[in-house]
Amino acid sequence: MTQDEMKKAAAIKALEYVKPGSIVGVGTGSTVNHFIDALATIKNQIEGAVSSSEASTAKLESYGIEVFDLNSVDDLAVYVDGADEITEHMHMIKGGGAALTREKIVAAVAKTFVCIADESKLVPVLGNFPLPVEVIPMARSYVGRELVKLGGDPMYRQGVVTDNGNVIIDVYNMSILNPIEMEQKINAIVGVVTNGLFANRAADVLILGTPNGSKVVEAK
Ligand code: 5RP
Repeated sequence: MTQDEMKKAAAIKALEYVKPGSIVGVGTGSTVNHFIDALATIKNQIEGAVSSSEASTAKLESYGIEVFDLNSVDDLAVYVDGADEITEHMHMIKGGGAALTREKIVAAVAKTFVCIADESKLVPVLGNFPLPVEVIPMARSYVGRELVKLGGDPMYRQGVVTDNGNVIIDVYNMSILNPIEMEQKINAIVGVVTNGLFANRAADVLILGTPNGSKVVEAK
């Protein structure tokens, strides 16, 4: 199986977590694109979706799936999204696709976060993948200097503007031994909108795509 086929296998399995008649939280990325394709096959059984990015909204709407404003939704049973890295404790690095802030907001509302990923995303320690941080543009240099004080090597992601009109700094070589604490420390820097550590609100379920198909991994 290719990496993309493993992503697809995980995405299809996630349909089992979708509740009939519900509004489904939908993340962003290539794995989620497979999930949206799968969701389209049962679109008559759901009320619609809440989306974490303009890209996912466009794809959902192309299938005729109604996309609701999160402000009009009180109850979101399930949020399905990918990850750049995830540990067996269900802590993640996300934001490779620059959608981290909206992803974190939708994840906060959802009762159950289902992470879908190919098996290469499961890692013992977070930090090999550069940690994305969404930053208000005028604070870019200041935030960069503060990230150096936390031990990282910040790099401005050239040419990328988020759906919220902000910029992304990717932090390399960060030792993330305590993701819960690091998430809070980075978010406390003035000018940071949020960072790509999803540890304080971790995933509840991990569906991994493997060469033998999908497998559900229990949190440790
Ligand atoms: C986007 C994300 C994605 O979930 C993450 O980058 C994984 O993407 P892919 O499914 O393409 O590997 O956080 O902001």
